[in-house]
Amino acid sequence: MSNGPATSTVHTMTDVWDAYREELDGVEDQVRKHLDSSVALVNTVAAHILSSGGKRIRPLLLLLCARLCGYRDNDHHILGSLVEYIHTATLLHDDVVDDADLRRGRQTARKVWGNQVSILVGDYLYSKAICHIVGFRNQAINEVLSEACRKMAEGEVLQLYYNGNPAITEPEYLRIVEYKTAGLIAAACRIGAIVGNASPDKEAVLFRFGQNLGIAFQLADDTLDYAANGDRLGKTLGQDLRQGKATLPLLHLLLHCPEQDKQMIKDRMETRTLTEADLLRIIALMQEFGSIAYAMERAREFVAAANTDLAQFEDSSPKRALSVVAEYMVNRDR
Ligand code: IPE
Ligand code: IPE
Ligand code: MG
Ligand code: MG
Repeated sequence: MSNGPATSTVHTMTDVWDAYREELDGVEDQVRKHLDSSVALVNTVAAHILSSGGKRIRPLLLLLCARLCGYRDNDHHILGSLVEYIHTATLLHDDVVDDADLRRGRQTARKVWGNQVSILVGDYLYSKAICHIVGFRNQAINEVLSEACRKMAEGEVLQLYYNGNPAITEPEYLRIVEYKTAGLIAAACRIGAIVGNASPDKEAVLFRFGQNLGIAFQLADDTLDYAANGDRLGKTLGQDLRQGKATLPLLHLLLHCPEQDKQMIKDRMETRTLTEADLLRIIALMQEFGSIAYAMERAREFVAAANTDLAQFEDSSPKRALSVVAEYMVNRDR
């Protein structure tokens, strides 16, 4: 096992990635090892997305939380890979729901093989993860992960329910974010605590830590959808609005921009007819009215809450690394 570097040497995400390289390689080995379907198309499609350069944030959080709680074995590599399978399944489904053509700088699976294949391989990855997880015979882990999957599905349906509706309130929007994104990130942290044999108290704290990080993570994602460098992001900018999704920067803008612009935005949301010129205009308005800054400020509030949770743990290398990951949630460009 890796004990990580001296606490004082972990300052940036590069330091974290370097320090936990062996562990992350262990996760990667498991990701590859379990792509063993007897149906070749399943492996081809799954490999297309799994080997395209995801950030592996969920396995990283799982392994850091496990080490934080003193876990000394290596079962968390496989658990991390299975959480990544679940995440990947949601991406295959999400790209169908969102009509997305680009992910991680590559054509989406649905663009290459079609929606049906993308949905079915997503189902396969979910099921494959569940098959392995139940093999651990750890009821706490089974409950945490199945709950997270249930919440994710509810979050995506709730989001669909509000599609095209510019009148969604911030609390309703945050509920979607909590369900569709924070649930799995919180589960990854809690599983780390479970394998690390943490006290029920500490387990609950790490769950809440993950929940706060997960919300911050999605708020940043929703901001990047307007404010990122598209090449670096590897996804199509403006896709949320194009699909009728009102996210936090847009909700802020709708409350602050002139009536004429408000009408233009509502029209584009309802008719799903956003042009490049419309998008540039909306991004400029967001800069003018501070909508990007507002959404990032809200995201930072959730990171601050996560750091308060983390403060309950004694100083250590994994704790230092987790606080760097927490900052990265809102300081990332992809
Ligand atoms: C994308 O997740 C979907 C969201 C919950 C925002 P990531 O940003 O973790 O995607 P990858 O795995 O790094 O591509
Ligand atoms: C996250 O929302 C979706 C999931 C939790 C699967 P997005 O739809 O914003 O994710 P991206 O931007 O497509 O990665
Ligand atoms: Mg999407
Ligand atoms: Mg997004």
